[in-house]
Formats: sequence, structure tokens, C-alpha cells
Amino acid sequence: MSGNPAAAAAATLLRVAAMTSPGAAFPSPAFPGPALGPLRPSYPVETERLLLRPIDPVGDVDGMHAYRSRADVCRYIPPEPMDRAQIAERLANPDFSRAELDREGQALTLAVVLKETGELIGDVVIFWRSTEHRGGEIGYVINPDHHGNGYATEAARALLALLFDEFRLHRVTARIDAENPASAAVLTKLGMRREAVLVENEWFKGRWSTEIDFAILDREWRALRGQDG
Ligand SMILES: CC(C)(COP(=O)(O)OP(=O)(O)OC[C@H]1O[C@@H](n2cnc3c(N)ncnc32)[C@H](O)[C@@H]1OP(=O)(O)O)[C@@H](O)C(=O)NCCC(=O)NCCS
Repeated sequence: MSGNPAAAAAATLLRVAAMTSPGAAFPSPAFPGPALGPLRPSYPVETERLLLRPIDPVGDVDGMHAYRSRADVCRYIPPEPMDRAQIAERLANPDFSRAELDREGQALTLAVVLKETGELIGDVVIFWRSTEHRGGEIGYVINPDHHGNGYATEAARALLALLFDEFRLHRVTARIDAENPASAAVLTKLGMRREAVLVENEWFKGRWSTEIDFAILDREWRALRGQDG
């Protein structure tokens, strides 16, 4: 026992803090690099065949309705198929048509448009998951009329470029249903690592769904792009 009452009181406080909030009692030093700022992409984000831009809450309703109304498209993603009015209501929510990420917890959805025709063929999303751990997540949906042309891979690769090259994240993940091999193929083509299989971890749309988690780190992304260092 310490004979110093102040030291004893401090030790007790530390023990209580450790029991209730270990992070507060033993704070780990922050990442030594620059803090994450907002992500404000320059639009449109351009790839070889695609343009990615913020959602137009009125002009994108029909294009999005064409695929988000379909049960097959929604089988492995949280939203249910939506009718036109539901799509219009969803797009009218400013959270859905934001153009930048300002803070952790937000999602940025972007329309995927064919450069050649201007047609909306899908949408992609970026989640800012953690500021402290510099983590994000991606997702994508493409109209079945345009499946199998490499568009999801091309659009998702542009998301990784935004997240690593501009936003300076450390780690980007994607979580998919084990019964969605097309999505697994996209992530594998992107060079993401299959890291975890969470067996029947969610009751999802009437059945137990097994989740597969993929991830890629910033240094792995740079190595893939031939920019190691
Ligand atoms: C997943 C999805 C976005 C892929 O879009 P896409 O534009 O067709 O993707 P890409 O063309 O870039 O790549 C698809 C790959 O999946 C492969 N694929 C498609 N169906 C497959 C299947 N049943 N089994 C195995 N591979 C399959 C394709 O052959 C292609 O790989 P390849 O280029 O090596 O031949 C699209 O299927 C989709 O929108 N699905 C509904 C929404 C969804 O599930 N989103 C993902 C949520 S995690």
C-alpha cells in the first residue's frame, strides 16, 4: 500500500477508469501522420469508360428504379426492392445525395454513368468507418443489363483510388454474402484479400447469411499500382 494518499487516490481512479473505459486509462498515441480531413472528390470522377458523380435526386429516379426495383438485384444487399415513389423518397434525403464526406459514420453514394451514352448503370458507396483507425468500406450495385462488362470492378477501383490516394485511409473493407460469387469476383479482381468467413452471422432476408470479409491496406494498394513507398 502507498503511504501517499494522493498517489493511492490516483491509482484507484486509474483502476476504475481501466474497468469502465480501458481506452481512456491507457490512451494509445494517435496515428503520427496528418489527420483525416473531409473527402471532397472533384467531379466527375473519371475512369476509362465511366463517370462517377453525386446522385441527382430528381434526374436519377428512373435510372435507379430500373435496377433497384428488382428482387434479384436486392438479394444480397440490405435494401428491399423499391417502387418509383420509394426511390424518389430515398433520393430526396440529402444524406443520399451528399457530394462529400465530412465525418466518420457518413456514407457517400455516387451514380455510375456510362461515359459514352450518359446512361446511369449503377451506384457505388463509400463508408467512412473510423477516423482513429483510418478505415473505410465500399459497396456497389450495377444494373443487370450491364453485368459482366467489368463495370463494378472499374467503378470500385476508382473508389479505392479516392480512399487511399486522396483520403489517405489505411484499410478498406468490403463485406459480402457467401452466396454472391459475382461480388467476390469483383473484390478478387481488385486485389482485395479474403480475410474472414463469418458463418451464419446474420438472419438476412429469410435465411441465415454467411458473410465474407475482404480487405486491402494502403501499402498493398500502392504496390498494386506500382507506387510502393
Ligand atoms: C456484384 C455486381 C455489382 C457485379 O457487377 P458487374 O459489373 O457484373 O461486375 P464485373 O463485370 O466487374 O465482374 C463480375 C465478375 O463476376 C463474375 N461472375 C458473375 N456471376 C458469377 C457467378 N455466378 N459465379 C462466379 N463468378 C461470377 C464475372 O464472370 C466477372 O468476373 P470476370 O471478369 O473474371 O469474368 C453485380 O452482380 C450486382 O450489381 N449485383 C447485385 C447487387 C450486389 O449484390 N452488390 C454487391 C453487394 S456486396
